[in-house]
Amino acid sequence: MKLSKRISAIGCGAVLLGSLAFGADKKGDAKKGLEVFENSACMGCHNTDSDEKRGNAPALKGLFKREGLTEAKVLDKINKGGNGMPPYEEQLEPAQKVDLVAYLKTL
Ligand code: HEC
Repeated sequence: MKLSKRISAIGCGAVLLGSLAFGADKKGDAKKGLEVFENSACMGCHNTDSDEKRGNAPALKGLFKREGLTEAKVLDKINKGGNGMPPYEEQLEPAQKVDLVAYLKTL
């Protein structure tokens, strides 16, 4: 019994790892993601509690409810930035980005 439990735990871990691609060994934590958001200046440019654009920065409220917007696209934007958005590829650890995306999904 013990052994089979262990095997299924390993299987589970592998699925998780696979689905998150590289780097992160767990699902995103939205609470930690909020901290990353607050500490990475995202807050300084993006509204999260209204639909109002600030300067050129679009509000992130309801981000993942938008049609056609995928996790990959959001991660790409966070990594590469562009059009006034700074790139965070080097600034943030892969696990922090996973947390960040988990937080953005709550908006
Ligand atoms: C200096 C201001 C600034 C900071 C800091 C900033 N952004 Fe941005 N962000 C922008 C601008 C401007 C755009 C629009 C870029 C474009 O139109 O291509 C943008 C676009 C985005 C988008 C795409 C939104 C959409 O509607 O397609 C996401 C997601 C995003 N930012 C998340 C973040 C996160 C997460 C952080 C912190 C890690 C962050 N931004 C920090 C200015 C900023």
